[in-house]
Amino acid sequence: MRNLDEKTITQAVLARNAETADRRLHQIMTGLVQHLHSFAREVQLTEQEWEKGIEFLTAVGQICSPVRQEFILLSDTLGLSTLVTAQNHRKPDGCTEATVFGPFHVANSPQYELGSDLSNGLPGTRWFVQGKVRNMKGEVIPHAQIEVWQADDDGFYDVQKPNLDAYQGRGVITSDNEGRFHFRTIVPEPYPIPHDGPVGKMLEALNRHPWRPAHLHFMITAEGYERLVTHVFREGGEYLDSDAVFGVRSSLIAEWVEHPAGATPDGENSADPFFTLDFDFVLNAIER
Ligand code: BEZ
Ligand code: FE
Repeated sequence: MRNLDEKTITQAVLARNAETADRRLHQIMTGLVQHLHSFAREVQLTEQEWEKGIEFLTAVGQICSPVRQEFILLSDTLGLSTLVTAQNHRKPDGCTEATVFGPFHVANSPQYELGSDLSNGLPGTRWFVQGKVRNMKGEVIPHAQIEVWQADDDGFYDVQKPNLDAYQGRGVITSDNEGRFHFRTIVPEPYPIPHDGPVGKMLEALNRHPWRPAHLHFMITAEGYERLVTHVFREGGEYLDSDAVFGVRSSLIAEWVEHPAGATPDGENSADPFFTLDFDFVLNAIER
């Protein structure tokens, strides 16, 4: 294959890639090459722009570390994460909707008893969270694993803090025999996604802000049900309509109810105002 030009290069690459025995890889690479070449043709990409793109992707890779996932931020801010989530979790009406996973989930976070304080000592406004896990038939789901993670009241996750060797604002609890769960923590605030790297520069160049509305992350697993990765957002909060990563869904917005100082749901007394959240999750049964 010689003398390839702007008209013949795409077909040449597709033909070369057709040698693979992996049908799915073939399908994915064919689509990728076709769209990448169409993009370059459509915008008439210059050499300087191509170089800038390579430099950008290099910087995205270079800033990645075990606690910094710039490629996920790139996917999130380009809306790719929301697209992939949406097309992989088409569910019947009434199921709790999924949203983006984000880069701050940590494997093996600590297991807690129901009622525990998942903030593990974070300062902030106390928050009592409770709810139920059930299915579309209204049946409760006992022993569901409910993993929670959240930012603190300065908008930072534990993993973003240097030298912190304890988990704070994350943990796993298990629903009881009636599918109920409850725990306490602190109220998380809105936060900007990490924007001191190449993705931050991209947002700035596009005149976009990096903020996410206040939310609490959940990942719920139970045998016989599709895994649910989602958030619960704060009704009336800032950035609900301009989330930097396009993750907000109306059905996931709930009232975080403020209470004056006094008796708290765990039977204690708070000298300060505190918040409660009541939110039920509906899992999608896996068809067999
Ligand atoms: C998060 O909510 O943790 C998150 C999601 C996408 C990008 C950055 C953070
Ligand atoms: Fe988050």
